[in-house]
Amino acid sequence: MVLEIKNICCIGAGYVGGPTMAVIADKCPHIQINVVDTNQERIEAWNSDDLTKLPIFEPGLDEIIRRTRGNNLNFSCDVEANIKKAEMIFISVNTPTKEKGVGAGQASNLKFVEVCARKVAQHAVGHTIVIEKSTLPVRTAEVIQNILEAYQENNPDIKEKPTFDVLSNPEFLAEGTAINDLENPDRVLIGGQNQNAINALSEIYFNWVPKEQILHTNIWSSELAKLTSNAFLAQRVSSINAIAAICESTGANVREVARAIGTDSRIGSRFLDSGPGFGGSCFKKDILNLVYLSRHFGLNEVADFWEVVVDLNNWHQHRISRIVVKNLFGNVTSKKICILGFAFKANTNDTRESAAINICKDLIEEGAILFINDPKVIPEQISKDLGLNESKELKNIEYEKIFSVSGSWCFERNILKAVENADAIILLTEWDKYTKIDWKLVEKKMRKPAWVFDTRSSLDKKEISNTNLNLWVIGEGTN
Ligand code: UDX
Ligand code: UDX
Repeated sequence: MVLEIKNICCIGAGYVGGPTMAVIADKCPHIQINVVDTNQERIEAWNSDDLTKLPIFEPGLDEIIRRTRGNNLNFSCDVEANIKKAEMIFISVNTPTKEKGVGAGQASNLKFVEVCARKVAQHAVGHTIVIEKSTLPVRTAEVIQNILEAYQENNPDIKEKPTFDVLSNPEFLAEGTAINDLENPDRVLIGGQNQNAINALSEIYFNWVPKEQILHTNIWSSELAKLTSNAFLAQRVSSINAIAAICESTGANVREVARAIGTDSRIGSRFLDSGPGFGGSCFKKDILNLVYLSRHFGLNEVADFWEVVVDLNNWHQHRISRIVVKNLFGNVTSKKICILGFAFKANTNDTRESAAINICKDLIEEGAILFINDPKVIPEQISKDLGLNESKELKNIEYEKIFSVSGSWCFERNILKAVENADAIILLTEWDKYTKIDWKLVEKKMRKPAWVFDTRSSLDKKEISNTNLNLWVIGEGTN
């Protein structure tokens, strides 16, 4: 039997909920989709007439929103009414790492998921399929199921008791390529017990995903597969970053090493780009979840194994700030440094866990004056991430006066202004626009000796070598 789904509700209009529901709405015009969020400002941004004001930047998303919003896709703050209407509910709320209590610093804080489950228990009508879309620790589905059942035990007078099935359907989209990842997934993973519920969700994906790419597993395998997938990817990035450090010391070139190993079909070529260290909302959090889980089951060696992936990433980020300071004669106090890119990767406005945060904090602590540029990240977000307000006066300060300032930053949209009289440029995010910089012009603007630190190996090395700029490239060192 296949339950017919006419109404879907997604709780959480973030980087996952927003694009995922937009693509489902686009592919399934026969289904009404209501995305709800408790953050009114975010919902208003999703409903903005100006599509450049959507709360998240994701290439291709604005076009899909234009096609679907107001037709079968709606954004609202009315959580209760939309739970009532829905036969299927996706939980897509954030699950930050716990800051206090048991598992602090490692375990995920499930308070938002719990709040959602209670709301669903209270307002759902008839039979409802509840789907965990947020990345969660293994056995969270069980928690959700328990909350749904406990509500009924606590309220024995409810006449028409709703019934529930809980499924796990982890999201594998990567930011910056989310729309393509959703439209052409390598696989869709559905974990659960009840075949009718699994079929109902599979039917939705059948609208655009070939049957053989929809994998069914038990609920815990599905939950663990998501954590494992991110842990494996993050592990590759830490591995290649560790090799980059060896390359810099030995004269080997990490790109050449990556190409040589990546052509081995057993290894494969992706996720071998050395960079400033992985960021994003998932990698660190998911590995720490795995570490917590392993320790919980007494598997200390397993926990230690995965923890090192995160430790190496932290070390690697600080290593980059140390290299910058060392090359600027061991001192960056009152020196102007231009930062190119603050997002954790290109094509997103997301800065969560971005390597730029640690690297910029280190340099500010050393006394540097940072002029930060990013095509999509807003200065207010950078203030939050650095825990330091932007010094707007810096932008117009006379050149001589800059030397009386230290440990400060400002946002500068104009790259040529950001590099004026700067001692160094550090590329942290591989935005395409940075590959088109006119290095001859930049050279004229900088104070000599001037440095370019390319932590993504994405700048035009040939162009830079035609100038007097000193160049340091990740996994190669000084050219
Ligand atoms: C996702 C996943 O859901 C998370 O588990 C994963 O690890 C990271 O990616 P994401 O969509 O990126 O989260 O998070 P975010 O952009 O913070 O969006 C979550 C939304 O849920 C926010 O807009 C927040 O306002 C909303 N929310 C949170 C609710 O509507 N209700 C709540 O009770 C809590
Ligand atoms: C990741 C997973 O890829 C996705 O499947 C999951 O659903 C969410 O987490 P995301 O964090 O959005 O996606 O981006 P991803 O492309 O995986 O990059 C993560 C970090 O690793 C970025 O900081 C990126 O710059 C870095 N990275 C990635 C490298 O440094 N080198 C690489 O070769 C690849």
